[in-house]
Amino acid sequence: MAWDFAQIHQGVHQDIEGVHDLQALEAFRIKYLGKKGLVSDIFDSLPRLSPEEKPLVGKQVNELRNLLTQLINAKKDEVQQTKKSASSPFFDVTLPGIGWPVGHRHILSQAIDEICGLFEKLGFAVMEGPEIESEENNFEGLNIPADHPSRDGFDTFYLDVADPGDKTKKLLLRSHTSPGQVRIMKAHKPPLAVIIPGKVYRPDAVDASHSFMFHQIEGLLVADDVKFFHLKGLLTTFCQRFFGPDIQMRFRPHFFPFTEPSAEVDISWKHGKKEWLEIMGCGMVHPAVFKAVGYPEGKYTGLAFGLGVERIAMLRYGIQDIRVFFENDQRFLKQF
Ligand code: PHE
Repeated sequence: MAWDFAQIHQGVHQDIEGVHDLQALEAFRIKYLGKKGLVSDIFDSLPRLSPEEKPLVGKQVNELRNLLTQLINAKKDEVQQTKKSASSPFFDVTLPGIGWPVGHRHILSQAIDEICGLFEKLGFAVMEGPEIESEENNFEGLNIPADHPSRDGFDTFYLDVADPGDKTKKLLLRSHTSPGQVRIMKAHKPPLAVIIPGKVYRPDAVDASHSFMFHQIEGLLVADDVKFFHLKGLLTTFCQRFFGPDIQMRFRPHFFPFTEPSAEVDISWKHGKKEWLEIMGCGMVHPAVFKAVGYPEGKYTGLAFGLGVERIAMLRYGIQDIRVFFENDQRFLKQF
């Protein structure tokens, strides 16, 4: 035959083996499929061939052309692939790095952790209650019956959901953490010392010192012979540890339905302006509360307190507006 296709195929395979980049691939294409390439030479030769040879060569040259196209396409993919993977593991260690900002706990979470931690050191256990409460736990169990005038002071978000325990009443968003006292005492016998942090809700118009949601930390200690001086001593220790030894305190008589006697605690800094700032409510657990949770009459005494976390954090850090805690402005949050 005029053309030795076996040898041509051998040459084609050898040549393509030696191709490693797009430039060499183009040279390969020109050599075989170019206008003056081998395939076109073979086609040009067809008219000169014998009638027997013509169809055979025609068939073979078509096969050769298909093979070349396939090889070129496959090689093109291969070259591009190696080019990509050759560039990807390249790592320029001299480039400046991209910093990944590390987050941190919100200032209120930090304050809650710190306050709970201080009481834990004094032997208190940290417990939590639900934000959706019954009227029973939020009010009645705390000696605040429905017609009690003090109930107005605990303005409340009621849910449009009946209390499964008493269908005549509605569930609500707890307006303080004190229902935690009721839950704990219903479930445990004294002696007990617990601290209950959590969110509370009141339908207050939002301004620099009010928010419809804020955080409280409740404290409760019940035993055989708890006295008011235990309460004073405990809260004095707490304030000195949290605000520093420089702090001055006063216990100002107050009223809460669930404690008797009751007080509010004010603090002031010796070296600051002589100004008293209220930070918490407290008192001795009212006998009516012990009765509501089913404790035997006259057997136990207890102390309780409730402090506002935002208020305490504002005083400690000199923050003027409660809204900044909830606006998530990084310029504020990053300072703590
Ligand atoms: N629950 C009261 C409030 O929200 C605070 C308090 C707690 C007072 C415990 C006395 C004892 O204002």
